[in-house]
Amino acid sequence: MIEFVIDGKKVQGEAGETILNVARRVGIEIPALCADPRLPPFDSCGICVVEVEGKGVVKACSTPISEGMVVRTRAPASVPPSPRKSG
Ligand code: FES
Repeated sequence: MIEFVIDGKKVQGEAGETILNVARRVGIEIPALCADPRLPPFDSCGICVVEVEGKGVVKACSTPISEGMVVRTRAPASVPPSPRKSG
């Protein structure tokens, strides 16, 4: 069992799981577009970016969890800019 932190919450996962898989299981929302839980990571759209302490911005759908990692889903570097308002 691997223990790590997402947004200040201690979570656990199995070796080989991705950040996105664990987040979904524990109810932490990470937006994802090309990730389908029935398939291997497609790793294409980049919607699922999160910040991992010491690693920077990574794709949650294709990044395996590791012991003690600290993930922030709402870090400034992992939040896409707001859409521009027209007018
Ligand atoms: S959900 Fe598309 S790259 Fe992660």
